[in-house]
Amino acid sequence: MKTLNRAIAQQTHQRAVEEGLVDPGELKAVMYYLREALNYRLDALQKNFPAKTLHAVAIKTNNQPEVLRHLVQRGMGLEAASLEEIELAIAAGCPAERIVFDSPVKTPAEINYIHRELPGMQVNANSLAELQRYPLDFSGQLGLRINPERRSDAPAIFDVSTTQSKFGVPLSRRDAILEGVKNGPKLSGLHLHMGSDMHDFTPHLKAVEALVELAGALKAAGQPISWLDIGGGLFFGEEPPYRIEDFTRALLRIPGIAPYRLITEYGKYVHHHNSLVVSRVEYVTPGPPDAPDLAYLHVGADLFVRKVYSDLPIHYPCVALPRQDKKERPEKSYRLVGPLCFAGDVLYEEIKLPELREGDLVALLHTGANTMSMWSGHCSRTPPPHFFI
Ligand SMILES: Cc1ncc(COP(=O)(O)O)c(C=O)c1O
Repeated sequence: MKTLNRAIAQQTHQRAVEEGLVDPGELKAVMYYLREALNYRLDALQKNFPAKTLHAVAIKTNNQPEVLRHLVQRGMGLEAASLEEIELAIAAGCPAERIVFDSPVKTPAEINYIHRELPGMQVNANSLAELQRYPLDFSGQLGLRINPERRSDAPAIFDVSTTQSKFGVPLSRRDAILEGVKNGPKLSGLHLHMGSDMHDFTPHLKAVEALVELAGALKAAGQPISWLDIGGGLFFGEEPPYRIEDFTRALLRIPGIAPYRLITEYGKYVHHHNSLVVSRVEYVTPGPPDAPDLAYLHVGADLFVRKVYSDLPIHYPCVALPRQDKKERPEKSYRLVGPLCFAGDVLYEEIKLPELREGDLVALLHTGANTMSMWSGHCSRTPPPHFFI
């Protein structure tokens, strides 16, 4: 299953009602995550990368326990950005060797905890200063994050490869890197992550090329580098030239890359298309003259934080589910608003939908990435129930 549509949304919701997961009389909003859609992306990762690749899916993109458990059962790893995410990974049954820890603010206590309790974990140091916090006999697989300092098509808010980025040691500090790792614990890998929402993978390939070159120099200087973590951030499409197979073909042609085990950290690519939210339309009220009527949903800026609070062009396809009477209704324009008590809680200023009435159901599609994992507690509303189905 590549993408969701109105029919899939309707069938999924109906199934949940029939199975007693959802009581239609009590429904405000409910989120469904479709296992079949997730498997489609996991198959694509496993088919296109070398078999020994560790795909550490970013927990920050979707942190639902059943989803994490499924990823682990499918042989994936998990990328954790905090100690709390490490705990989620462990609760999902992920062995330490398949966890990648990438927090930029690891404390001495966290590092010691991993050293004592979770040997074998991949841990990427964010800076040369951080490297000094590790014991010489560190029990994990220690990597160093490199900032490749390359422009990509990531939106500015997600671009972590700028010269001022807080992430990684700038590649241009090559001499400092070679010097800075000399007396510390041995490095077994290098890491980069350029940003999110990147479609054109050409700059990313160039960055990996530079990482391979640096790995060679570090190996020559006695560091046992055996893996390269190439991060996440690419959002592969279904059409050439930016399909996953186009990327891996070019990636595996990079001179010198073959001996290294690859690690990836995809988030949005894995999760985006696999989930949908169904919300009851609580009210429809008239708008001012010549402006759309208002339709009130039970999810807004609390679930769709990035869409509502930023000017990113995020679009969740929105469909009205068929009513009991199954009659087709004429289309009308609506201002689709959320449940929170502030003016900006608007999902769409104007969207065309079949005429809505109180109690109708509306589904927002492709909501699997950076939604529930970013839930905002504004107005203290309870997150919608989530079903992995
Ligand atoms: C270090 C790291 N890896 C992976 C990801 C996942 O990125 P994406 O969901 O764009 O693939 C992020 C996102 O912020 C990240 O910071």
